[in-house]
Amino acid sequence: MHTVQKIMKVFVTRRIPQEGMKLLSQSGVCKVSLWDSDEPVPREELLKGVAGAHGLLCLLSDKIDTEVLDAAGPNLKVISTLSVGFDHMAMDEIKKRGVRVGYTPDVLTDATAELTVALLLATARRLPEGVQEVKNGGWSTWKPLWLCGYGLSGSTVGVIGLGRIGMAIARRLKPFGVKRLLYSGRAAKSYASEVEGEYVPLDTLVSHSDFVVVSCALTPETQGLCDKAFFSKMKNTAVFINTSRGAVVNQEDLYQALSTGQIACAGLDVTTPEPLPTDHPLLTLKNCVVLPHIGSATYSTRGIMAELSANNLLAGLQGKDMPSELKF
Ligand code: NDP
Ligand code: DGY
Repeated sequence: MHTVQKIMKVFVTRRIPQEGMKLLSQSGVCKVSLWDSDEPVPREELLKGVAGAHGLLCLLSDKIDTEVLDAAGPNLKVISTLSVGFDHMAMDEIKKRGVRVGYTPDVLTDATAELTVALLLATARRLPEGVQEVKNGGWSTWKPLWLCGYGLSGSTVGVIGLGRIGMAIARRLKPFGVKRLLYSGRAAKSYASEVEGEYVPLDTLVSHSDFVVVSCALTPETQGLCDKAFFSKMKNTAVFINTSRGAVVNQEDLYQALSTGQIACAGLDVTTPEPLPTDHPLLTLKNCVVLPHIGSATYSTRGIMAELSANNLLAGLQGKDMPSELKF
């Protein structure tokens, strides 16, 4: 006599790269129901889709709170998010219910660090403005005082949150001739010696840096960290870059700092809300470059993220070790 394996129910909240879908559909472990769209699942559909599910594969744009967990009910064993950030999930509630969580650290570190460097250079050297001037006829001749920006050579860079991505950013920036690499966070990192990183209080980092790069996680402590007081300590010539989460920044205060010349310019890959409304004041500023949260957006990275999130989900469903389980 052989035991019949129970087929478990899984809800996937968005169309994801086929590398991940293939693993799920060929696993023989679960029956997948998919919100088959590139657009976010409406809340009612999420609540309906998750009902009775054993597994949920979600995105950073899905708010996984008590209501969703209640709608899922007691079957829910595992949540796998297609992201390294997990600020969209009510971790305390998830823990209380004994639900395991998978996420996608490491595999997106290089892509996100590359994008951060690209955004920093584009912002500091005013690339979007330059491209615009070429198209609109503003380029009349070579002018000694036109479209000048800021360079990394000989500069001081401050990284807020020298974690996986922060360190990968630091490694990439150092060869540009960065003179001092400062970092802040909750604790000094032994691995920072590789980039000659100096662990300093946040205030020191903010006031000494020519480039301030935010790469920390969004937590209650980091929410609104970059506010009026923060920007007022920055140099007038300093460049501010955020590729972590929008809510780390008070955007009204950032707008004031940029529009009054308190700081030189800012590059943001993340905002609140996302998408940023097209009439948002930040988008009226030439010295603010805003990208649509594309840090990890390379074809191969997204494929690997999908594969990892599928494998996390399958392992969780089967009570096995996950390739990347979030310990919380
Ligand atoms: P890590 O956990 O490796 O790094 C997070 C860092 O945040 C740690 O170094 C931690 O420092 C720091 N941190 C936590 N609390 C504070 C605090 N109060 N002040 C300063 N720093 C703090 O995560 P990753 O590097 O893999 O990812 C970081 C974040 O990047 C993600 O959480 C996500 O939000 C964002 N991200 C954005 C992407 C995009 O597309 N733009 C792509 C991928 C990630 P310490 O160890 O000292 O606590
Ligand atoms: C993440 O993984 O947290 C990013 O924001 C998207 O890749």
